[in-house]
Amino acid sequence: MLGQALLVASRRPGLRRAVVGTPVTRRVVDRFVAGEQLPDALAAVRSLQADGVAVTLDHLGEDITTRAEAVASRDAYLALLDGLAPLQLGPAAEVSVKLSAFGQALPGGHDLALELVRPVAEAATALGTTVTLDMEDHTTVDSTLAVLAELRRDHPGTGAVLQSALHRTEADAADLAVAGSRVRLVKGAYAEPRTVAFTDKAEVDAAYLRCLDVLFRGAGYPMAGTHDPAMIARVLELVRETGRAADSYEFQLLYGIRTGEQQRLAREGHTVRAYVPYGADWYGYFMRRLAERPANLQFFLRSLVTT
Ligand code: FDA
Repeated sequence: MLGQALLVASRRPGLRRAVVGTPVTRRVVDRFVAGEQLPDALAAVRSLQADGVAVTLDHLGEDITTRAEAVASRDAYLALLDGLAPLQLGPAAEVSVKLSAFGQALPGGHDLALELVRPVAEAATALGTTVTLDMEDHTTVDSTLAVLAELRRDHPGTGAVLQSALHRTEADAADLAVAGSRVRLVKGAYAEPRTVAFTDKAEVDAAYLRCLDVLFRGAGYPMAGTHDPAMIARVLELVRETGRAADSYEFQLLYGIRTGEQQRLAREGHTVRAYVPYGADWYGYFMRRLAERPANLQFFLRSLVTT
């Protein structure tokens, strides 16, 4: 219930001003966001690299309302890929994009997002790395999967994200479990109506397990995006059952969450990738992290009273 309320609040401008304007918020945000500027993100990349953890970088910017802002998102990603070039990490440093930041929700937004994300995919390919299209609320799924199909024609490494919370996802997972297809499976971070989504956590978890099965038994490249020990344990079982090679799947966790587990899995020889968000527009991302876990919210509230 509280989580749902926070997700609704994450779209309210009034609360946004209050949270962003709270001086202590920055300290808490730093736990989940690598910083506001590109050099902050690159410093996080280097530090994770030293622990054997790969990265996918997200330039935060989902709350845009104009074409000029969408163009600025594209330019921020091009600058990010330029910044990554000297590190020569190849596929160990890729980028995640939210198509809303590329104008998907504006009038004519599907075509605009495709037009603006294409040069990012081209720059990533030139660097020997990939783009993954994050998934946002259920109204965007068809458009995002259509952009994915377009990009994969020229950039077959482009990845997708599927959310087990949505009723449709088992079928989408079966469609995408094909050779060369990179799919990050997550539970889903958006408040969705019962008509399209499971709203009971046990149902979302059960669906996650079913989708893991489809992806790991399929021919694609599954990426398990979760911090949940039960889901991670099931991935390890599936790897044993299917005999998958270490370079044919990966674990993905968010920056700042269960870092000990990220390092442990990497030490055990699994590919582990941290999702590293950076940029000034951290509000929506931060609120979704608070909504996910009471402990994250307690951490935030404690920081308000102890300062
Ligand atoms: P869940 O939140 O159910 O937690 C289960 C258990 O995991 C907890 O009981 C605890 O044991 C452990 N855990 C969780 N958080 C923890 C913490 N902070 N500290 C310690 N333990 C913790 N969503 C989306 O809609 N679109 C997207 O594109 C993405 N992309 C994405 C990328 C990556 C790499 C990840 C990891 C996640 C996403 N998500 C996402 C978010 C995702 O949908 C989901 O909201 C979160 O991952 C939380 O779900 P969990 O699977 O971690 O389990």
